[in-house]
Amino acid sequence: MEKLLVKEILSCQSPYKNVRVEGWVRTRRDSKTFSFIEINDGSCLKNLQIIIDVTLSDYTNINQLTTGSSVAVFGKLVESVGKGQKWELQADGIKLIGASDTSYPLQKKGHSQEFLRDIAHLRPRSNIFGCIFRLRNRLSYAVHNFFQERNFILVHTPIITASDCEGAGELFRVTTINGKLNGIEDNGIDYSKDFFARPTYLTVSGQLEAEIFASAFTKVYTFGPTFRAENSNTSRHASEFWMIEPEMAFCDLEGNMDMAESLVKYLVQDTLVNCDEDLQLFTRFIDKDLLKRLNFVLDKPFERITYSDAVNILKKSGQKFKFPVSYGSNLQSEHERFLTEKHFKRPVTVFNYPRAIKPFYMRLNENGKTVRAMDVLVPGIGEIVGGSQREERLDVLLDNFKTHHLDPKEYWWYLELRKYGTVPHSGFGLGFERMLMFLTGIPNIRDVIPFPRTPGSADF
Ligand code: 4AD
Ligand code: MG
Repeated sequence: MEKLLVKEILSCQSPYKNVRVEGWVRTRRDSKTFSFIEINDGSCLKNLQIIIDVTLSDYTNINQLTTGSSVAVFGKLVESVGKGQKWELQADGIKLIGASDTSYPLQKKGHSQEFLRDIAHLRPRSNIFGCIFRLRNRLSYAVHNFFQERNFILVHTPIITASDCEGAGELFRVTTINGKLNGIEDNGIDYSKDFFARPTYLTVSGQLEAEIFASAFTKVYTFGPTFRAENSNTSRHASEFWMIEPEMAFCDLEGNMDMAESLVKYLVQDTLVNCDEDLQLFTRFIDKDLLKRLNFVLDKPFERITYSDAVNILKKSGQKFKFPVSYGSNLQSEHERFLTEKHFKRPVTVFNYPRAIKPFYMRLNENGKTVRAMDVLVPGIGEIVGGSQREERLDVLLDNFKTHHLDPKEYWWYLELRKYGTVPHSGFGLGFERMLMFLTGIPNIRDVIPFPRTPGSADF
């Protein structure tokens, strides 16, 4: 007997005579001579329809086959008379594995995403979250394909670090010092007694370590979780999120922007080709313009403008913004969205930001005022990629340490990369969840990560 997943059954060419399949009951309908049940095992969106004849000895248990219960079925495939699928399973036997009663929360279709968020242990069994997390799986695979096809080397950067790469101070501390932190100033704690004999944190970015590896392997990437203790409760920020960070030696800002834009396009293309069923569902229930927008992104080149041009466009727009636009301050998401959705009507790559609003590692331009930073902005989200060319000149970097009040001793290894065979190099970070939001039209980041961590919430 062949044991198959629903996906494998629905796509098989000839009818199996003896097949076993397992899954969770979605619905049951009883008639005089037989019952129909539909089961789903998460391998695809579609259910498998099963016909259970009243003459079957297992039929006596039919009332236990309720929505949410788990079952194992064996029998033969028959061509489906109903539309939408090729095969049904004519049961020769059906066994209840785990019962479920009428308190099962997913009895009916059409729950709100907020409700489903509260039952994160069951929501993967719903249609919409099934599609989201299967798409998330495919997208991870596509990310690796993209880089492996281009001979990038994957590097696993540490989750526990001692440095604040972004310099924003939004760090989660890692400590085994018990219960003493409350109310005590930092300088009252002897970190030499702590587990790592120094202050340590959850990483906000794998970039600095990726730079080490790029200085040996030329083209590398990381793909892992990152953590930010940023107290912003927005639909686009999570405290734990996944980031893809390529780092390329012998590469300037131009090459970096080219790579970021082609990665975004590649992932859109891959999803359109491989996740059609899921995209159809999102277009029907989440965002009716989704497919149109994704195809549009593939067809058109991204717009590229400097930060100062972006500020000028925003100032001249006549648009009322909650946060005023001024040269020298960060672009807010409303500004980013105006540029992509209203002004250019396509993704926009903004580059050359003022030095003062960017981290220490970005390469200073000849004008001494701007750095070779770049952000890729997409409609509906705003910033999806942030990156830069890195400062490879030791003297300029040391100068940056002064302005950013960083201790060069703490970063001695980072500085030595500039001492021994330094090269121009660049990289960026693509927010994996932001990319998923863009591809699915799902408006809240909490719904594209299996177990979201946000300020005040770390359930499951
Ligand atoms: O712009 P960010 O902060 O860049 C860096 O961390 C660089 N070290 C990357 C690099 O050059 N290697 O973050 C990169 C991307 C953002 O563009 C955004 O898509 C995502 O990470 N991101 C978040 N996603 C979800 N929740 C948050 N709190 C995020 N913060 C950043
Ligand atoms: Mg950024």
